[in-house]
Amino acid sequence: MERLTDVPPTKAYLRAPQRQGLRIGLVPTMGALHDGHLSLVRVAAERADVVVASVFVNPTQFGPDEDLDRYPRDLDGDAEKLARAGCHALFAPAAAAMYPDGFQTTVSVGLVTQGLEGAARPGHFDGVNTVVLKLLSIVAPDVAVFGEKDYQQLVSLRTMARDLALDVEIVGAPLVRDPDGLAMSSRNVYLTPGSRARALSLSRGLRAAEAAYQAGERDAAALLDIVHTSIEAAGIEAEYLELRRSSDLRPLYRADEPAVILAVVRVGDTRLLDNVILDRS
Ligand code: PAJ
Repeated sequence: MERLTDVPPTKAYLRAPQRQGLRIGLVPTMGALHDGHLSLVRVAAERADVVVASVFVNPTQFGPDEDLDRYPRDLDGDAEKLARAGCHALFAPAAAAMYPDGFQTTVSVGLVTQGLEGAARPGHFDGVNTVVLKLLSIVAPDVAVFGEKDYQQLVSLRTMARDLALDVEIVGAPLVRDPDGLAMSSRNVYLTPGSRARALSLSRGLRAAEAAYQAGERDAAALLDIVHTSIEAAGIEAEYLELRRSSDLRPLYRADEPAVILAVVRVGDTRLLDNVILDRS
């Protein structure tokens, strides 16, 4: 697997396959890779001839009180996992390569980035959209794969790609869970065994809400109550818990159209993000 750190050599490396008409797939990540990330590499490999993953802990998407400094980093471990998953190239730039002196451009997406994560993390989506647009510009992929784990991020990136007429297909890949049901996340390493056990009440609650939906329940309050009951029994509270339309995140009172339940809970110092999509049955 090719390891790339600077922008011009990355563009040069990709020029040959692009000229030959090979399809390029991009999987952007912040590293500390787990099986959820690696599933995106496999989705990209099904849709492209050359798969490029990026590892970049993007400072502009972290708030001043967030975990930028302690975010887990393991670039050599990540490179090994990516190579084993069939990735062809790893682009892991330094901050100065992505944000050289004088950098002053921000991409802001509107309504879909307000509320939910956007309300809890001001400026977060501006940071995400800007860095992803830059990665898309450097790699010029035919397809870019993102996880449904970060559902609002996926909708925001799809909106950006549509609004700016980007020449890339944005593909969403299913959320991958640990065998106990916890949504895989690089931040799960922060959980103690006790807080992990309490955190499981969220995925259990979401699963129960999904079962109720499959049995015919459509009322938002009733579906969300099921999740609230599960997490409250474990002594944790939701930072937000909402039913939204899956296409554009418009709030819904009833799940009569494709919908998603989006949730964040705080367990100790750790924010855990999870969701369940209710349009597949
Ligand atoms: P990161 O949190 O490292 O996630 C990289 C990609 O992996 C995202 O598309 C995310 O949705 C996906 N992912 C994470 N956990 C997953 C899981 N359990 N199942 C399926 N997919 C999962 O998201 C980011 O980085 C950044 O915001 C980024 C897009 C790279 C921009 O900096």
